[in-house]
Amino acid sequence: MSMNRNYQYVRRQPAMGAPTNEQSGSRQSASVSSSMANFNNSYDWKSQIKRPPPDTRYKTEDVTATKGNEFEDYFLKRELLMGIFEKGFEKPSPIQEESIPIALTGSDILARAKNGTGKTAAFCIPVIEKTDPEKNYIQALILVPTRELAFQTSQVCKELSKYLNIEVMVTTGGTSLKDDIMRLYQPVHILVGTPGRVLDLANKGVCKLRGCSMLVMDEADKLLSPESLPSIIQVMSYLPQNRQVLLFSATFPVTVKSFKDKYLEKPYIINLMDELTLKGITQYYAFVEERQKVHCLNTLFSKLQINQSIIFCNSVNRVELLAKKITELGYSCFYIHAKMVQSHRNKVFHDFRNGACRNLVCSDVFTRGIDIQAVNVVINFDFPKNSETYLHRVGRSGRFGHLGLAVNLITYEDRVNFYNIERELGTEIKPIPADIDQAIYCQ
Ligand SMILES: Nc1ncnc2c1ncn2[C@@H]1O[C@H](COP(=O)(O)OP(=O)(O)OP(=O)(O)O)[C@@H](O)[C@H]1O
Ligand SMILES: [Mg+2]
Repeated sequence: MSMNRNYQYVRRQPAMGAPTNEQSGSRQSASVSSSMANFNNSYDWKSQIKRPPPDTRYKTEDVTATKGNEFEDYFLKRELLMGIFEKGFEKPSPIQEESIPIALTGSDILARAKNGTGKTAAFCIPVIEKTDPEKNYIQALILVPTRELAFQTSQVCKELSKYLNIEVMVTTGGTSLKDDIMRLYQPVHILVGTPGRVLDLANKGVCKLRGCSMLVMDEADKLLSPESLPSIIQVMSYLPQNRQVLLFSATFPVTVKSFKDKYLEKPYIINLMDELTLKGITQYYAFVEERQKVHCLNTLFSKLQINQSIIFCNSVNRVELLAKKITELGYSCFYIHAKMVQSHRNKVFHDFRNGACRNLVCSDVFTRGIDIQAVNVVINFDFPKNSETYLHRVGRSGRFGHLGLAVNLITYEDRVNFYNIERELGTEIKPIPADIDQAIYCQ
């Protein structure tokens, strides 16, 4: 591990049975028959890990420019390391290198890193490491702004902690409150949820947060926006005074500052965004009239090599209308927005993630955090109004440093927003060429 860090953290003793050089030197003795002995052997635990096939796709510096840390450098529990490796993570990404050791020290963090560079594991790994399965109460609360993101994040937590006896519960609006109350009578160690439902359960006294010493806010700037800030402040009042607060996002507008100054204690600031947009994403625009948009989309479908695409509209109504139009054009598509019943939302999310359909039309419920590796094209059928929304939307492709394409349909009315967003993000959105080289978004 590189030594030129500007911080220190206490190195714990390796977990029981964790590999040491001496142990790995005596591999011969590992050929004992008992499976338990095999499990305890330091050589075997790694060889028995079922890693997914390596992802050989091209990756940009957004994720490859690391210091060269290994996950083993952080002296995590061996069972957690097993979960990490079985998820296919070989080495920590830049944001993971920065935040895991700091979070393990108990320090508050405000971390900013680009879309798709691994922020989820950057907070889940320390949260899991610091959770004691022997203590039967909620020790960490992870708040996120949308239901689908809560579900996705709880899945990541469950996968990473699969070899530990840690109970992860997800709780969001749109599901049965009674079921959540019943579930809370069973042990829960890590609670992942959206602020409204968590507050509801805390107010009812069924969700007890007095022992919850870690609070993570993912997409923190969204959670701290005026609509949900009051709920967040109320939820925080249920946490102990000495709780650790971790804020993560790719965007931190100045509005977050007053919250940070008031509620975070000497936070460690991480900012890995010297530039804002992803290196792997090429951004184009097509200047169109409103009535030409569907025709233009049809042309894009016929010309582009879409693995999976996400198409954004600015209203629920327009999502439904466009989905209908796309189906009439003969292309398959799903749609999702916040006014749909939750069970249907879940099915669409699940099926799209599993590749059941190539195109998904959606509103801004899908703008933040959603991680679908197969998406290589994002289309702004309607151009967003601010740069944060733009950045998060286009960041649905090009996950973990992969290549992707963002196409923006721009009308005369969008021209001021277009100019402002380009300027605020310091990026260039180019006019779409007649032919787009597949190599720039299909590797
Ligand atoms: N160390 C790693 N090695 C390989 N893949 C990783 C690693 N860390 C994360 N990933 C993968 O990268 C993808 C993106 O991760 P994640 O969703 O955490 O990004 P993010 O930074 O939270 O993005 P966003 O800002 O859009 O929310 C996921 O599919 C995740 O499994
Ligand atoms: Mg995220």
